[in-house]
Amino acid sequence: MPMLQEQEYVDRLVAEYQGRPGSLLTILERVQERASGKYLSAEVLEYIAAKMNLPLSQVHSVVTFYALFNLEPQGENTICVCRGTACHTRGSRALLERLKLELGVVDHSEEADAADKLSITTPDRKFTIRTVACFGQCALAPVVEINHQIFGHVNERALRTEIDELSKGK
Ligand code: FES
Repeated sequence: MPMLQEQEYVDRLVAEYQGRPGSLLTILERVQERASGKYLSAEVLEYIAAKMNLPLSQVHSVVTFYALFNLEPQGENTICVCRGTACHTRGSRALLERLKLELGVVDHSEEADAADKLSITTPDRKFTIRTVACFGQCALAPVVEINHQIFGHVNERALRTEIDELSKGK
């Protein structure tokens, strides 16, 4: 969405929600949902902060605290691998590595503590790979969520099949 349209949309949302509890979260969520690439650009964050008379640092701390907000453009498809303990013991690391290999993405965040916060998008913006600390579906470990649909007991072959389908543009 061009910036002018975004601004008009933010203006409308601020007029509607300002003063209500949780207004900042609601506005950020709605703007992201409508944005191409499903993310919040630096410009739009600045604009929201100015319109709501909030320090930019406060807006930044909200978007960096909640995992649902994206600061980079997202891929058409999102594949999220659980890296919680139950899924880890059932092979989620291997699934994640396989996924990265299949999609040809390079991950520079090798540290173990970065594994819960991974978010990488392929250069063609077809896929975003993410990780999560737990889906709350541990009995189904290892769990992978593809475009908001939960898949349980996932193995490399099943994952490959799903990727192939999505690559064909489904
Ligand atoms: S650890 Fe993966 S769903 Fe809980």
